[in-house]
Amino acid sequence: MQQRSEQLRTEGKTIAFVPTMGYLHEGHLSLMREAREKGDVLIISIFVNPTQFGPGEDYERYPRNIKRDFQLAQEVGVDIIFTPSVPEMYPAGFQTFVEVEKVAENLCGISRPHHFRGVTTVVTKLFNIVKPHLAIFGQKDYQQLVTINRMVADLNMDIEIIGLPTVREADGLAMSSRNAYLNLEERKAAQSLYRSLHTGEELFRQGERSTKVILQEIRKIIEGEALTQIDYAKICDPQTLEDIEDIEKEAVIALAVKIGKTRLIDNLILEGGV
Ligand code: PAF
Repeated sequence: MQQRSEQLRTEGKTIAFVPTMGYLHEGHLSLMREAREKGDVLIISIFVNPTQFGPGEDYERYPRNIKRDFQLAQEVGVDIIFTPSVPEMYPAGFQTFVEVEKVAENLCGISRPHHFRGVTTVVTKLFNIVKPHLAIFGQKDYQQLVTINRMVADLNMDIEIIGLPTVREADGLAMSSRNAYLNLEERKAAQSLYRSLHTGEELFRQGERSTKVILQEIRKIIEGEALTQIDYAKICDPQTLEDIEDIEKEAVIALAVKIGKTRLIDNLILEGGV
């Protein structure tokens, strides 16, 4: 892959890259379509990265369907699909990690303490292998996007990072490979995430600025559904990801909720405040 990328760069081609863990859905495909527009060559990776899963999480059962992924990737015009194996990415003796500090500490960093270290390490490795000019990530994983932006800036990586809006199902549920775990009843309960975010946004539009008041309403909606257990519901500064009490101009509402055994995340940016 490195040799191929080096060759493409020598030929003056712009490499656009979309890293994924596979089980592709419309959210991934929207990133790929944008990458197709922006680059001469579109490379994606499919790699379920073990270092970003904690003990007892869903690494083993994470959904996989490489045949279908290849088909979908082909349909959106992907040029190269990079699918390394775990021993290729983490050979015996591997012991180097990339760790971003503050922005990775709050939100998912609390309940998944080594998650972002795994993400930033694998993304650095993928960047070194694929050598992209630009890489595209979804805003659904908002903290991941902020963390990667921080890493790229702090480590002077010469790569443009582009974040694209969350793609949602008709009922508002954010697209995620993990939605495949949900049964019918859980799927219905999962709608409460977007419903609550939407209510939060409405309150903000009506002039509410207290995060305590907004979060109370959000919690009420999610807890009103059976099968839900909130990991966190927070309103943070969209750059630093620190909790805030009163919203001035901008904020991000971030949620992680367990629906049965499935942990889902979602977020919404509040902006345009006066
Ligand atoms: O967002 C994902 O699918 C993963 O975290 C990523 C960026 C591919 C790294 O494994």
